[in-house]
Amino acid sequence: MNNKPNLYLVGFMGTGKSTVGRQVAQRMGLEFIDSDHAIEAAQGKSIPEIFAEKGEAAFREMERAFVDSGHAREGCLVSCGGGLSVQPGMMDVLKGKGLVFSLMATAKGIYERTRHNSNRPLLQVEDPLAEIEKLLAKRDPIYREAHCCILTEGRTVSEVVGHVCRSYK
Ligand code: S3P
Repeated sequence: MNNKPNLYLVGFMGTGKSTVGRQVAQRMGLEFIDSDHAIEAAQGKSIPEIFAEKGEAAFREMERAFVDSGHAREGCLVSCGGGLSVQPGMMDVLKGKGLVFSLMATAKGIYERTRHNSNRPLLQVEDPLAEIEKLLAKRDPIYREAHCCILTEGRTVSEVVGHVCRSYK
């Protein structure tokens, strides 16, 4: 057991939470946990399969169960699926468990980063950019409630990793 606070990385899809999170965890000696992977492992299904077979509401329930499950011992970095932290009351729950950092990007930047990836059911729509704009407008005020907000646009992964590590110390 160590006494490092848990670090929760939140933010919209495509802001680099998993990539940045893995590198930060390695550098800071934190255990890396990805909420989507934990849910996929528990269900034995991929995220698109869960959405298709059980629906979004069931997936949100799984996210809440993940947070309640005592997943996080001390000294974990948890990369949170983009919709996890914006569920009602969830940001306060996460802030009660550790430090919460938001990775921020514009709708256009998110669109560019996610457009060739088909594993996000919410973006499998006719006009993904419009969907991102709509969802981001709703979610952005909640992401901004984090302890620390970090702009990722125009920055390399290693710059963002450095910023997160300095802010965590
Ligand atoms: C979602 C984000 C995804 C995944 C699911 C729903 C969302 O995670 O949990 O497709 O509602 O924003 P990433 O943010 O890791 O892509």
